[in-house]
Amino acid sequence: MGSINKKDSPQMKLNNKTILITGASSGIGYELAIQLAATNRLVLIARREELLTDLINKLPKRDHLHFKCDVGDYESVKNIFQILTDQKVQIDVAILNAGISISFDPFNMSIERIQQVININFFGVINVIERLLPGMRQKNEGLIAATGSLAGYRGMPTAAPYSASKSAMATFLESLRIDYLKTGVKFTLISPGFVLTPMTAHKNKFMPFLMTPEKAAQIIIRGLEKEKTEIHFPYSLSLIAKLGRLIPDRIYARLMHGRH
Ligand SMILES: NC(=O)c1ccc[n+]([C@@H]2O[C@H](COP(=O)([O-])OP(=O)(O)OC[C@H]3O[C@@H](n4cnc5c(N)ncnc54)[C@H](OP(=O)(O)O)[C@@H]3O)[C@@H](O)[C@H]2O)c1
Repeated sequence: MGSINKKDSPQMKLNNKTILITGASSGIGYELAIQLAATNRLVLIARREELLTDLINKLPKRDHLHFKCDVGDYESVKNIFQILTDQKVQIDVAILNAGISISFDPFNMSIERIQQVININFFGVINVIERLLPGMRQKNEGLIAATGSLAGYRGMPTAAPYSASKSAMATFLESLRIDYLKTGVKFTLISPGFVLTPMTAHKNKFMPFLMTPEKAAQIIIRGLEKEKTEIHFPYSLSLIAKLGRLIPDRIYARLMHGRH
């Protein structure tokens, strides 16, 4: 994980593609939709349909589609893909960005809350990938990007379900990249640091190198066009996070204790 594709030069323009974005109703996904809408056809997914409708009304007129869907609900994801198949819509690029972060008390664990995070952040990505792959394999072409987090590199304090969900997803993607190496289907991991979105807005915590969602979306789009294996940002924080993987476990635990 973390290496850059050897073909790390611009080779794919996000132009005239059909792009699926999950979690498009707010934050990073919303911004990606705004920035990609003029030159591509978008398929937007989230649970809050009214926000998707508002967004679609703001976008330049193309035949964009939007669906209310809980990505953690496999049947619901299957239904959307059945509709897309019926309408002969084939996804060229998928940005699987839907995710949640909820408070977690490590001294009074709630199994329901842990399952909720894993179901959306891990299975919410896998459910969609499972539906995407047959079509992409048949075309021998496609790019699947999924949003992890720098918080998935190592366990973060009071964030065990979130860190675990993101690192599991990242590893899943990395394995698929190996398996699909000789095909035209590519996989990109998106690893943001802190981005100012509804997910972080209410959090009263230290967020170094906090970035706007506009800037985050620009970096993601540039990285996708270069077909990077990982798009990690902001640079300073991701460098610290990557180096942090080398710190021995006990020292890491002492360094991170109480930092939340
Ligand atoms: N903000 C950060 O600092 C940061 C840092 C690292 C990684 N990330 C990751 O970046 C991604 C986007 O987060 P964000 O910061 O833009 O947060 P956000 O503003 O809260 O957006 C999350 C999006 O995911 C959607 N979503 C959540 N659960 C869903 C479900 N079950 N089915 C379908 N859609 C669902 C939400 O829409 P509905 O509620 O309408 O369904 C919303 O559109 C997440 O995966 C997050 O973990 C964020």
